[in-house]
Amino acid sequence: MELDTTGAGTGPVTVRRGVPAGSERRAAELYWEAFGRKLGPALNPPDKAVPFLAAHLNTDRAVCALLDRQLVGLAGYQLGGRALTGGSARAVLRTYGHLRGLRRLPLLALFERHPAPGQLVMDGIAVDPGIRGRGVGSLLIEEVAAIAAEQDCREIRLDVIDTNPRARALYERRGFTAVRTERTPYLRRLLGFGAVTTMLRPAEANGTTGPRTP
Ligand SMILES: CC(C)(COP(=O)(O)OP(=O)(O)OC[C@H]1O[C@@H](n2cnc3c(N)ncnc32)[C@H](O)[C@@H]1OP(=O)(O)O)[C@@H](O)C(=O)NCCC(=O)NCCS
Repeated sequence: MELDTTGAGTGPVTVRRGVPAGSERRAAELYWEAFGRKLGPALNPPDKAVPFLAAHLNTDRAVCALLDRQLVGLAGYQLGGRALTGGSARAVLRTYGHLRGLRRLPLLALFERHPAPGQLVMDGIAVDPGIRGRGVGSLLIEEVAAIAAEQDCREIRLDVIDTNPRARALYERRGFTAVRTERTPYLRRLLGFGAVTTMLRPAEANGTTGPRTP
């Protein structure tokens, strides 16, 4: 799949499945840039968090956007019990030490998602800030939807936080509907958000709105 992003680089953006070998670090950086505020209390400082994420990626659980062979975006998903971000409790303790690691485990558990049968969970979409608003995020979402359909999933599920209305607007344009909002006021000071909305979309391709061309 290709998207012409004239002006953003020298070539078109291409979407592929899996994080290309050698791009794990960039993938972790993009992920951290997008979700560092939320993940910070569990994985800070950044110079530990980014290598930790890079070392424990399940690279076959993402679709990636490349521009001039550089990774400029990715969307992680959870399928068959594996998500893009891995790392066992033992790995957390090894990286952060036992005492500090133990305090982090309950925070990490907050981000765990358990798909219902027939669901593919999309967990983490991030596009390089320099290329946002040009349709890359939409391409990534549609590729995840194609995977869901191929895997005979009934629906795609994702969570969006209340401090990210633009991402929510994007999901609504791509055919997702909010089904439930969990208020989490106790997390506002710690993680920066006070509510999480779960959204669902049927797994088949969304024919209503194509990716925007610049
Ligand atoms: C959300 C995100 C992946 C969208 O990628 P994208 O390539 O800009 O997406 P598209 O070009 O297909 O669609 C653009 C739409 O995305 C949404 N969007 C959300 N945050 C945005 C941002 N910082 N810049 C531009 N668009 C953003 C808007 O709805 C925008 O439409 P608008 O310009 O009419 O407001 C990207 O903005 C991003 O990486 N944001 C930070 C991480 C994040 O919030 N992830 C979602 C967590 S639930």
